[in-house]
Amino acid sequence: MMAADRLDAERIIEYFKGKSILITGATGFLGKILVEKILRVQPDVKKIYLLVRAIDQASANQRVQSEVTETELFCVVKEKHGKGFERFIEEKVVALAGDIIYDDLGLDPQVLHDLADDLDVIVNGAATTNFYGRYDVSLDVNVLGVKHLCQLAKKCRGLKVFLHVSTAYAGGDQEGLIQERAFEEGWALREGMHLDVDTELRLVADVRREVEDDEKARRKAMKELGLARARHFGWSNTYVFTKAMGEMLLSRMLLPPPPRSSAVTGAGVVVVRPSIITSIQRDPLPGWMQGTRTIDTLIIGYAKQNLSCFLGDLDLVMDVIPGDMVVNAMMAATVAHSGEVGQEQPAVYHVSSSLRNPAAYSVLYEAGRRHFTEKPRVGKRGEVIPTKEMHFFKTIASFQVYMLVKYRLPLEILHLVNLLLCGLFSRLYSNLARQYRYVMHLVDVYGPFAFFKGCFDDINLERLRQRMGRSKNPQDDEMFNFDPKTIDWEDYFYRIHIPGVLKYILK
Ligand SMILES: NC(=O)c1ccc[n+]([C@@H]2O[C@H](COP(=O)([O-])OP(=O)(O)OC[C@H]3O[C@@H](n4cnc5c(N)ncnc54)[C@H](OP(=O)(O)O)[C@@H]3O)[C@@H](O)[C@H]2O)c1
Repeated sequence: MMAADRLDAERIIEYFKGKSILITGATGFLGKILVEKILRVQPDVKKIYLLVRAIDQASANQRVQSEVTETELFCVVKEKHGKGFERFIEEKVVALAGDIIYDDLGLDPQVLHDLADDLDVIVNGAATTNFYGRYDVSLDVNVLGVKHLCQLAKKCRGLKVFLHVSTAYAGGDQEGLIQERAFEEGWALREGMHLDVDTELRLVADVRREVEDDEKARRKAMKELGLARARHFGWSNTYVFTKAMGEMLLSRMLLPPPPRSSAVTGAGVVVVRPSIITSIQRDPLPGWMQGTRTIDTLIIGYAKQNLSCFLGDLDLVMDVIPGDMVVNAMMAATVAHSGEVGQEQPAVYHVSSSLRNPAAYSVLYEAGRRHFTEKPRVGKRGEVIPTKEMHFFKTIASFQVYMLVKYRLPLEILHLVNLLLCGLFSRLYSNLARQYRYVMHLVDVYGPFAFFKGCFDDINLERLRQRMGRSKNPQDDEMFNFDPKTIDWEDYFYRIHIPGVLKYILK
């Protein structure tokens, strides 16, 4: 069990002093925020190893520089170190050219050996987050990637924490309270089903063999297989399904049932499950973000005025949490579980907001309306482009009826006319039919997410929050805030997130 001693900003900062940390996914949105935060608050960290996909050391260095340390996110660290910034980064940050889909992470044996000797903390943030990704790729990254990192963990003599980033949606999209429970091996959302990772891997290998010579057919087959298997076991898409399997494998590898001879010893195992991660709320750059999240398509559509309707119910709660809060929770959990022994299951934390401080889609929509009314888009000739209201389909069925009347029926008529005119409109018909199928497919994949009615329990995280005491320096108290109750959503969306999306995503 977690030691119930007190945590505060000083203790968290002190913890990272002299520690060596491996982070995967550092070129991504969340990983980058974590790297920056550690370097900012604890410049005496020993080493931060960043495993990035690259063909050689030079390109790994290049990627880390251009995609991580030289990004605008590092402006505060840069300012703090001034001319010494480059040297500081050289001393602390080590780029590793690797890939988590391979045994030994694709690292040279000597590099792996030295890494295992040095590591105190492993943070796995790498993932493929495509809802409709290829099943083979998603299994490789989100499941086998976890296995390979666990294998490294077992080689580390001094490892104190293994922290794996999952997603709150890995628990399924059922209504009601979704608890912070570890997933048992074999568990599936659909009752009576047994989910076996090895069987899934074999299935992928079999299907891959069938379409070996045709890359296009293989891609299609793998995408369809992922979705079919996810739905078979009760998950709504390939991403959340494989993330759930990744968690199962983590428990199997690091915390096997007794006699536990193959357990990782003396290292706490933590699973952090954020909901939808949004832009940084506070430090170092409010509004900073990378990559378009589902909810941001609404803001971008509003900004460009190219979206007249949207699928979603404004009264529903969207579970969002700013990226810096997720990182603060990750750092606090790392300290809380450092060196923990006797765990039977990983410590699971939902980092979410729906229970403590729910934000309805309407809050985001109203903030957007306010923003674009006050600062309307201006056309090329300086003319103000009026902001139009958007129509929302509150159910998938109502959207399907709309699509049927507006597009499907005219398409059928076009089809008939085309037959009568001996294929004169064949090209037009097939293009429009393809677009129609694409939109319906998007609705199929993203629909369950847009109408999510679950609520993530975060009692474990609440206990961690309660352990956070006041620091000697009151200014430090905010530094590790991960309490969504402190967020005024209306203000956050209006003042921070929407301008952030426009500045960093829409540019
Ligand atoms: N963003 C969210 O709203 C959200 C919500 C809940 C949970 N999460 C979880 O949070 C974590 C980070 O998400 P994110 O939004 O930061 O994702 P992201 O921006 O898409 O970044 C993914 C990262 O994983 C790396 N990666 C992918 N495949 C890899 C491989 N085979 N080997 C090594 N690295 C690989 C990517 O590297 P490349 O640059 O080489 O592609 C990238 O750095 C993920 O585990 C995700 O499931 C995210």
